[in-house]
Amino acid sequence: MSVRILALVGSLRAGSHNRQLAEAAVKLAPEGAEVEVFDGLGDVPFYNEDIDVEGSVPEAAAQLRAAAQAADGFLFFSPEYNGTIPAVLKNAIDWLSRPYGAGAFGGKPVAVVGTAFGQYGGVWAQDDTRKAVGIAGGKVIEDIKLSIPGSLTRFAETHPADDAEVAAQLTEVVARLHGHAGETVAA
Ligand SMILES: Cc1cc2nc3c(=O)[nH]c(=O)nc-3n(C[C@H](O)[C@H](O)[C@H](O)COP(=O)(O)O)c2cc1C
Repeated sequence: MSVRILALVGSLRAGSHNRQLAEAAVKLAPEGAEVEVFDGLGDVPFYNEDIDVEGSVPEAAAQLRAAAQAADGFLFFSPEYNGTIPAVLKNAIDWLSRPYGAGAFGGKPVAVVGTAFGQYGGVWAQDDTRKAVGIAGGKVIEDIKLSIPGSLTRFAETHPADDAEVAAQLTEVVARLHGHAGETVAA
């Protein structure tokens, strides 16, 4: 049985380099692992406890929760917006953190990577993502890190999957997360 890794991307723009990184991860997944990019984050309304009640949960949020429940691990791809995590990604984490104590992260392994234009590749956003996901119930694999600076120039002409250095780094990220997720599946 394949280990299922759900990829969540913190940029909604069509030409997103983080989205491209996620697409590269799909291609680079080792045998026995399947990376799926969740497509509907832009349709998930802002988290609101008033609508997070039986019968009122918006369809897009329910789909996000179902995809997360079915996953064995999570791979976040985050750019940096004003020194922190983009709202779309934080919103997804908030939805997945509830019901309190029974959210979809459920102690499953999580790795956070990403690219941003700044010289540090979005490390603040990625660190903040680790912090939030950990509080939300994920098992953050702290030593899986990949922050690629200069996104707009580095990937202007080259898709991350065709950048040999990035592809090698991403291959290692997915393989290591697969290892952690596989342990969870076997347990
Ligand atoms: C609202 C906004 C805020 C940004 N703030 C930062 C920032 O704090 N640090 C940084 O490195 N880049 C920042 N950027 C530039 C992004 O890193 C860059 O647009 C990146 O390519 C976005 O990722 P994407 O290609 O996946 O959309 C910001 C971009 C936007 C639109």
